[in-house]
Amino acid sequence: MSTTTSLSDAGSAPVGARSSSVTLSFPGRPPVQVNALWLRDNCPCQSCRIEATTEHRTLISQTPVDLIPVRLTNHDDGIRVDWGTHQSEYSAGWLDDVRSQAQRDLPLAQAWPQGFTPPRFGYADIMRDPDVELAFLDAFGSFGAAIATGTPTEPGSLEPFIDRWAPPHEVPFDRIHDVYVNPVGYNVAHTAEALPPHNDMASRIQPPSGQILHMLVNDATGGDTILVDGFAVVANLSEAHRALLASVPVAFRQFSTTSETWARSPLLRMDRNGNPVHLRYSNQLLQALDPLDLDTGPWYEAYHQLSTLLTDRSNQSHFRLNGGDLLMVYGHRVLHGRTEFSPASGERHLQDIYFEFDDVMNEAYRLRHLAGPAQRRNR
Ligand SMILES: [Fe+2]
Ligand SMILES: [Zn+2]
Repeated sequence: MSTTTSLSDAGSAPVGARSSSVTLSFPGRPPVQVNALWLRDNCPCQSCRIEATTEHRTLISQTPVDLIPVRLTNHDDGIRVDWGTHQSEYSAGWLDDVRSQAQRDLPLAQAWPQGFTPPRFGYADIMRDPDVELAFLDAFGSFGAAIATGTPTEPGSLEPFIDRWAPPHEVPFDRIHDVYVNPVGYNVAHTAEALPPHNDMASRIQPPSGQILHMLVNDATGGDTILVDGFAVVANLSEAHRALLASVPVAFRQFSTTSETWARSPLLRMDRNGNPVHLRYSNQLLQALDPLDLDTGPWYEAYHQLSTLLTDRSNQSHFRLNGGDLLMVYGHRVLHGRTEFSPASGERHLQDIYFEFDDVMNEAYRLRHLAGPAQRRNR
């Protein structure tokens, strides 16, 4: 049961009531009802907050769970709340600030239009013009894929590129992953075979959420790049199949002579509103499920539907990466693959590096809202 305390009836709520609420009436504003524990926890005073860093200092466990104010009084343009053991002062501006902080989020996934290919931005423009740089990062955030054209084709150039916004995410195998035909390679990517859409490192509990695919040279016939918006595909799964893919854990493995990765996890993670936040898919790395497990049959039907949708040409974006094209993908959303190519027809060499999507998006936020030119990373 919840009780309400307002300016007129402060302290009248019955002792022992839990989840009490407090009505805040700032001058010239409609009253808002807020939870009492929330109000106490967000006291902006210098003893409750470390001012320079905005960090909490007080612990919510230091107040009783059934806390109610003793008295509310108007104070200048704000409201003073007497909690008995502490006095807090709140203003309308404070309420606007904390609400805007509470509503902050990473960019919303924007649906790909018909015939989508990742937006392209010139490397020199991204480096020189802060507006183009932010437009590139915004496109990456909303579509989960963007291309920088005309990038340096020296091996290793992708590392300073991503480090402009975020540190690379190191994984076993290599810091920078070379993709070319390699007879002693540890992955089907090291052949000229077609690669079905997948995200890398499904064999880790936390696969990196961002990936760069940097084409250094592409003189081969074939080998077009394939992308799939995994979140759009998940939206087209049946409800029952989504539930199975989000609950039955399955294992993936990738190994070489020097590294071993293995992890078991459901293919899908959803948020509380039923929106996908992470699709994990790698046909090449999936390990056998236990055939005697009762989940295996139903799971395979769901997996069949997922695989059918991911490999349906109408759900795929096909395009060619040429030497100097650098593709950035949000790996938890966007799957990548390629068509078969002819190694005899010419050289094809791609490099990969990983990073975290939120690091890049938060650096874009900082560049847009907080940082002056002197505070920019690596400039
Ligand atoms: Fe890959
Ligand atoms: Zn305080």
